[in-house]
Amino acid sequence: MNTLPSSDPLHPSEPVLSRRALLRAAAAAPVLALPALAHAQQAPASPVFTPQVGQQGKDVIWVPTPDALVDRMLRMAQVTQNDFVVDLGAGDGKIAIAAARDFKCRSLGVEYNPDMVGVARRNAEKAGVANLAKFEQGDIFVFDFTAATVVTMYLLPSLNMKLRPTLLKMKPGTRLVTHQFTMGSWEPDDSSTVDGRPGYLWIVPASVGGNWKLATTDARGTAELNASFSQVFQNVTGTARLSSMEGRMRAVKLAGDRLSFELMDDRGVLRSYDGRVAGDRIEGTTRAQDGATGTFVAQRTGAATPVDAGRD
Ligand SMILES: C[S@@+](CC[C@H](N)C(=O)[O-])C[C@H]1O[C@@H](n2cnc3c(N)ncnc32)[C@H](O)[C@@H]1O
Repeated sequence: MNTLPSSDPLHPSEPVLSRRALLRAAAAAPVLALPALAHAQQAPASPVFTPQVGQQGKDVIWVPTPDALVDRMLRMAQVTQNDFVVDLGAGDGKIAIAAARDFKCRSLGVEYNPDMVGVARRNAEKAGVANLAKFEQGDIFVFDFTAATVVTMYLLPSLNMKLRPTLLKMKPGTRLVTHQFTMGSWEPDDSSTVDGRPGYLWIVPASVGGNWKLATTDARGTAELNASFSQVFQNVTGTARLSSMEGRMRAVKLAGDRLSFELMDDRGVLRSYDGRVAGDRIEGTTRAQDGATGTFVAQRTGAATPVDAGRD
């Protein structure tokens, strides 16, 4: 199932830095050896770097994602032309290029290997999308990619886990898609397999864990209650206390910054709530079982609990 070669890419037998030094030395040697007369001659065309599948990368080797799965990953993320897609470890640039070519959005590939950055830029030129698909040489563990609305990755489980804290802090609603590898106990929101290769989607959830004061306003007036949400990634449960009544929320669903749930009040009226989370505030609309509509506002009263609930 693993498409990466069986050798451990995290432990290359040959240090990358020393290999680079050798390559640099090899590239410089002919120039140093040339007699002065050579300057008068036409300079030989510089050799174009030819990538080899399986070549060593900084933290993981290069293996391209097949076209059909690239397409599926971008569709799972529901990419539109308003998105900014960032591929972490861009290789030959195919994901960023497909995003720009097929969805007309801006994209960026971050790649450690400068030769591959050159390959990706040339591929973007050839595809006619160099204006939308850009490539930067950088280390994905240092590079600030948090402006992305969609992040794509074909890395390794350990690298996904290393990136996970940063990914979880991104704007709620940001979509993450991976080829092959998951994110530990953070379950994906969607998955697909194309020609036996899995792709996964996660939607960065807003932080809702903790205690909230919630006010519901409709034709009956305004009612205040204390709400409490327990959160483990996108999985949320909630309870509410109103006068002497304490009840569990039904159908709690968190998708990005969108939180919905149902709650029966102390008079036995069941309402559905649908709101947007912005930091420590939630605002939205309500609908009672008799069709009466209203609004609600909630404010977090204490500290937010960690979105990952301390899991792996
Ligand atoms: C498995 S390939 C995936 C390429 C491309 N994303 C795709 O799916 O076709 C991983 C890429 O990550 C690059 N890479 C490895 N470690 C990196 C790091 N720390 N920062 C940036 N790129 C890295 C490798 O050079 C390689 O091109």
